[in-house]
Amino acid sequence: PRSIFFSRHGESQYNVEGKIGGDSLLSPRGMQYAKALPALITDNIGEKPLTVWTSTLKRTIQTAQYLPYTKLTWKSLDELDAGVCDGMTYEEIEQAYPDDSANRDEDKFNYRYRGGESYRDVVVRMEPVIMELERQENILIIGHQAILRCLYAYFHHLPQADLPYIKIPLHTVIKLTPKAYGCDEERYTLPI
Ligand code: F6P
Repeated sequence: PRSIFFSRHGESQYNVEGKIGGDSLLSPRGMQYAKALPALITDNIGEKPLTVWTSTLKRTIQTAQYLPYTKLTWKSLDELDAGVCDGMTYEEIEQAYPDDSANRDEDKFNYRYRGGESYRDVVVRMEPVIMELERQENILIIGHQAILRCLYAYFHHLPQADLPYIKIPLHTVIKLTPKAYGCDEERYTLPI
């Protein structure tokens, strides 16, 4: 059976600073993850072929850099666009746009950032990615929190309202093995 592996990029400079969006580089811990990832993946997949998909953002490309597999970058895998809030912390957003923060808490799936996207928008944006995923063999996606929530919810048939709260921790590889009904799942967390 084929497998689909998901991982967020390693910890980024923005993750350390609590800022959302952007195109920052990996932190030193994030770089440690990038260096440890090839052994984890190679041990798991053995001799089988694998293709690695990243977004166009530096933190995913950096995370994939030591993986000895064919790589493809997808603009469609870029993180949810936070519009005017890109580069801000959640506290700064709360200060600058208190009503928006309240609306987001009210309906996180449908909330669309000013000049940006909602989770609903991202689900639509994932359609071609999912079409291609369904046709492929073993794929490792090095992605972003909101993006991986959408893909994970698709494979596990999770309801839209729960999707924006799915836990996709850093430095963890999620392995999905599609079955006739649903998917088997394993998680591997690197102690970094
Ligand atoms: O903080 C990392 C991040 O990937 C941001 O870039 C993104 O806006 C956010 O997580 C998505 O998570 P949430 O929808 O819970 O704010």
